Amino acid sequence: MRGRFIVFEGIDGCGKSTQARLLTAALIERGLAAATFREPGDTEYGRELRRIFVEGRDVSPREEMRLFLEDRRIDVRSNILPALAAGKVVIMDRYYLSSVVYQGALGVDPVEILAANEAIAPPPDLTLLLDIPADVARQRIRAARGATNTFEERDYLDGVRARYLSYCDGESIVRIDATAAPEAVHEELLRLVVDRIQPRGSSAGGE
Ligand code: TYD
Repeated sequence: MRGRFIVFEGIDGCGKSTQARLLTAALIERGLAAATFREPGDTEYGRELRRIFVEGRDVSPREEMRLFLEDRRIDVRSNILPALAAGKVVIMDRYYLSSVVYQGALGVDPVEILAANEAIAPPPDLTLLLDIPADVARQRIRAARGATNTFEERDYLDGVRARYLSYCDGESIVRIDATAAPEAVHEELLRLVVDRIQPRGSSAGGE
């Protein structure tokens, strides 16, 4: 049996990590096995990326894309595929749409980024885009940790947000208004997720 694969996306400060935690707890409470992973992970590539977040961008956008891709390749093999194979609901705090929109906003061809990722990583069943204006996101980041970093500049986040919105189809990538209180956002997306992870054919009103 293959588990379900749910991904949280959104600009920095949108509340993904909080929502991933709340969703994981709610699914476990319902008796479902859930596993949560975040990107970039604890790999040599992930560590190099975290250095760049702190020290500032000193590699090309293409090299940045490659570091995220290599980090993800390891995450897929060591974490994601085994959890799905065990029938768990896998919840990701970022996945390859992040590469498409963030490295895309730096000028790397989004079609190429998507193709490189789809070659190494299974597609999610549902991606939840926690949508919030860049100004609100930056206020939240400053309130939480006092300063924003190089990945969090306003124009860049505006561009990233616009790219995210262009991928929403209301079906596999769904926009959630993330300006509401965390509990309200959680309730909204929990309904959506519970509906999606029902085994097929289990909904009321069968033939
Ligand atoms: P983030 O989830 O904000 O991590 P943390 O909670 O540790 O700050 O991710 C860090 C940054 O990495 C964020 O600005 C988005 C960026 N990023 C990319 O540019 N491409 C990617 O493929 C991924 C996964 C993240």
